[in-house]
Amino acid sequence: MPTTPKGSLTVTLDGTNRTTTLPLLGGTIGPEVADIRRLYSDLGVFTYDIGYGGTAATESRITYIDGDEGILLYRGYPIEQLAENSNFLEVSYLLLYGELPNAAQMAEFTHGVTNHTMLHEQIRRFFEGFRRDAHPMAVMCGVVGALSAFYHENLDTSDPRQREIAAFRLIAKVPTIAAWAYKYRVGQPLMYPRNDLGYAENFLYMLNAVPTEPWKSNPVLSKAMDLIMILHADHEQNASTSTVRLIGSTGANPYAAVAGGIAALWGPAHGGANEAVLKMLAEIGTPENIPDFIAQVKDKGSHTKLMGFGHRVYKNFDPRAKIMKETCHAVLAELGIKNDPTLAMAMEMERIALEDDYFVSRKLYPNVDFYSGIILKAMGIPTEMFTVLFAVARTVGWVSQWKEMIEDPAQRIGRPRQIYTGEAPRDYAPLDTRG
Ligand code: ACO
Repeated sequence: MPTTPKGSLTVTLDGTNRTTTLPLLGGTIGPEVADIRRLYSDLGVFTYDIGYGGTAATESRITYIDGDEGILLYRGYPIEQLAENSNFLEVSYLLLYGELPNAAQMAEFTHGVTNHTMLHEQIRRFFEGFRRDAHPMAVMCGVVGALSAFYHENLDTSDPRQREIAAFRLIAKVPTIAAWAYKYRVGQPLMYPRNDLGYAENFLYMLNAVPTEPWKSNPVLSKAMDLIMILHADHEQNASTSTVRLIGSTGANPYAAVAGGIAALWGPAHGGANEAVLKMLAEIGTPENIPDFIAQVKDKGSHTKLMGFGHRVYKNFDPRAKIMKETCHAVLAELGIKNDPTLAMAMEMERIALEDDYFVSRKLYPNVDFYSGIILKAMGIPTEMFTVLFAVARTVGWVSQWKEMIEDPAQRIGRPRQIYTGEAPRDYAPLDTRG
């Protein structure tokens, strides 16, 4: 559904008679948006919005978030329904194509993805070029970006079929790259993908299996991993998705764009938060230290954040966190973890923060990463792999958003403006005249 006109907004430059009328646009749901594209030509004025908190940079039909109501929809379907009834590959199809697949479409899509799970053998050699202690996100950025060096014949982004093949390749290969980044780090043999396993199950297999032992799938853990992937699959125009769109808007190939998305996701304010939660809990050490830590968080001078709390958009609750919290308990029960000290600390932290006026008044609630970090730790996934796993799940979102952008006739290169606060024009002074 295209945007619909919803009236207009008249802007007058104070102290002048210069006025412009800006169209107000509405989407299917959500707030109206002032189309400010004429503001500069009509009034010579830019808008200023650090962090883009009040700026819509694109139309999109993929994901909808209502931060006040705690609503997250993929293509109109509530995340709660998808989490309960769907699976990651079906959600991937939905995000990419806009509708849930029928049985034939699902079979074809599954075949399309599994057909591309292997990596070129030359890529295998890349891993040896990294230090063993390299962070796996560094390896992900490098290897995913390098995929473009292997598929020269499919880099024409104006060709829909080539775009589709690139989408399949990315969704299929990121779990293999991620698992190999981990295996290389711990010095174990790289495990080749198994196309008879489900997407999340195969990822767990490549992470955990070794050639010398039979590997047994645990359906509860595979389901939990699949759920984590569904919940992380897309999230509207967040920092990493906007990075992918910005890179893609230049005509760069999708492998380069997704490598940029991975880099953006790495930061602790974004996807790196799940790893940061565990680091924070380790640093706090024991529950007696929690009050001191909370006091430090509240002290503005300390610049300490309670990791896993707060969200740019969700100012009430994060619906993904709600689902994740339930799964957290299911996973811990399955694994027989009753008195895990890290978990006990996390729960105590959650309790204190939810009662403390600092957090309540700022509408800071646990976000998805608070619980996903705890689940992943319980599943035995090493901390440094948390953000990598997020990147694996988010790849389908990045690819869907990139594809939507390329197919949008209104698409143009992303190019924000600025308020220049540097020096006014001045003359060059020769070196010997400078004091
Ligand atoms: N701990 C302590 N104080 C916080 C936190 C936090 N985690 N988050 C926000 N605040 C405070 C801010 O200092 C600010 O206080 P002030 O009004 O007194 O200045 C107020 O709450 C508003 O916060 P903003 O900085 O305006 O929130 P913003 O939307 O810019 O930031 C963000 C959102 C980056 C997620 C932030 O909450 C944060 O850094 N959280 C911790 C990291 C984290 O968990 N990130 C994961 C996000 S979810 C995801 O990427 C999947």
